[in-house]
Amino acid sequence: MRIDIITVLPELLTSPFSASIMKRAQDKGLVEIHVHDLREFGKGKYRHVDDYPYGGSSGMVLMCEPLDQCIEKLVAQRTYDEIIYLTPDGKTLNQSIANSFSLKKNLMMICGHYKGIDQRIRDMWVTKEISIGDYVLSGGEFGAIILADSIIRLIPGVLGDETSALSDSFQDNLLAPPVYTRPAEYKGHKVPEILLSGNFPKIEKWLHEQAIERTRARRPDLLDE
Ligand code: ADE
Repeated sequence: MRIDIITVLPELLTSPFSASIMKRAQDKGLVEIHVHDLREFGKGKYRHVDDYPYGGSSGMVLMCEPLDQCIEKLVAQRTYDEIIYLTPDGKTLNQSIANSFSLKKNLMMICGHYKGIDQRIRDMWVTKEISIGDYVLSGGEFGAIILADSIIRLIPGVLGDETSALSDSFQDNLLAPPVYTRPAEYKGHKVPEILLSGNFPKIEKWLHEQAIERTRARRPDLLDE
């Protein structure tokens, strides 16, 4: 998979993609991440990429031309399965969206900033609009990082244990059951007996019951879906 990210703040994206699972996925050649600095497409000494909104409201809007030129350059080089704009008015990210993006080959992500991007770029280019939750961030960069992480960990071979992405919370609309590791007793708190029993069919059943119980208590809405 290849992910191209367009941003005015490329430095924000350096560290998340240089550590842990997202780094390992790149090192293994399972994903390529290319960050593009929108300012390189800006005009003038200050590489202008934003302007005041028409209609007089406050804030700044990322202009059409730099974005259009950057996107044009990328689409001339390959076909993108999706051109995703990160925005609070997009569809809220969930596991099933991450699952479907993880099957794609080329994804482009556009990070808004300030008041967002000119609507015409959304109309001309964007194929999916994604929000990471009902709150407003200063830009789409953290959204792009979260979206990329949720996708990349699902690519076969990225996680060491092939089954672990499948047992995540939300994969079957259930929250994950509690987990424990050694020691078997800590400050008087014991690991549930069943997990030490070695009876794997019984353990499986218990874990499933715990997942349902936890979902019922914390996110009953998921059980309705
Ligand atoms: N940009 C600003 N807020 C955002 C959000 N909630 N999700 C995705 N991108 C955003």
